[in-house]
Amino acid sequence: MKTIIFILLLNATNLVGQKFENLALTPPMGWNSWNHFECDRVNEEVIRDMADAMVSSGMKDAGYEYIVIDDCWQVGRDEEGVIIVDSEKFPSGIATLADYIHSRGLKFGIYSDAGTHTCEGRPGSKDHEEQDAITYAAWGVDYLKYDWCNTEGQDEIESYTRMRDALYKAGRPIVFSICEWGYSKPWKWAGEVGHLWRTTQDITDRWDGSRWGNQLGWTFILERQVGLEKYAGPGHWNDPDMLEVGNAGLTINEARAHFTMWCMLAAPLITGNDLKNMPDEIRAILTHRELIAIDQDPLGRQGFKIYDEGNFEIWQKPLSNGDLAICLLNLEVRDKEFVIQWSKLKIKDFDGTYAVKNLWEDKAAGDTSGAHTVKVSGRDVVVFRLGKR
Ligand code: GLA
Repeated sequence: MKTIIFILLLNATNLVGQKFENLALTPPMGWNSWNHFECDRVNEEVIRDMADAMVSSGMKDAGYEYIVIDDCWQVGRDEEGVIIVDSEKFPSGIATLADYIHSRGLKFGIYSDAGTHTCEGRPGSKDHEEQDAITYAAWGVDYLKYDWCNTEGQDEIESYTRMRDALYKAGRPIVFSICEWGYSKPWKWAGEVGHLWRTTQDITDRWDGSRWGNQLGWTFILERQVGLEKYAGPGHWNDPDMLEVGNAGLTINEARAHFTMWCMLAAPLITGNDLKNMPDEIRAILTHRELIAIDQDPLGRQGFKIYDEGNFEIWQKPLSNGDLAICLLNLEVRDKEFVIQWSKLKIKDFDGTYAVKNLWEDKAAGDTSGAHTVKVSGRDVVVFRLGKR
């Protein structure tokens, strides 16, 4: 009898107290409305258009799967506390939109906030976690981004764990994206709670620096990922924020470098541009199969810096089967010439001779037995895949 009660208790406690396992075994790939459409311009038509464009542009075939509505889909709560959808922006309702996205073979994501209100002042999920999780599960949500505005006095771990447990209890597997901006060093605790966690404040479409102290250029964010590599792996990723590739503030080479470095970081590849009006050269960046394979490599190792002379850096990412990705990043405006002596580069686990392929040029480039003289254009990258022979 005692054993039966114990087993029953065990089963009951298993219902809470964990995140969904076996999700996000490689970094999530998708699209989110915030970077381009922000609050004012997001609506049902935009979301449907993006789902259509995700398919017609070839992005779905390249591996992108989540369509995520960020802030501003919600307006209030009814007398029972159930969240009310903004019916001006989303007249068909969220469940219908989710069905449409699923019918395109894609997955559907939504946004809320751990505090009383979202960053745009819409209702947050504080004290409504279970109710909201049940609503999301009923709508067919597959991904939740959970923000940290208006959380005065709240504890990060407690607040995110509460939503994790609510999602688990609601029973529909949902990728849980923690958006706490790195304040409490989430890489130290969030692996048990979510599938990805933001490491900094918001990205913006700039090369470097910060605007108003909290709108960061991507190279500024990149430098803040150094040392975090040991916390990432299958099912638990550092999130240096969504991509700005295709947004107005980056030139084409800056966008290529941004995308490449996010792949080197094993970062979630959540695009944030207007997929419907996407120039071919942007599509070519976002759908580059061999770059995506670096990001999505099943080993799940985040890349790290192995060389730094200030405005010129070299990064390494270990890949499955002993392959290696090596990326040269030129942070200066003028071109840079660099001679690579492979065996002297301090590449970790460099072992024997490798075949070298230049990925953006799509060209074999000999092997690692000799030296390579490489020209890296201003604010650009050269990335090699080193293949075990
Ligand atoms: C915060 C997040 C952003 C975005 C906005 C929406 O700033 O970090 O990614 O979700 O809120 O209001």
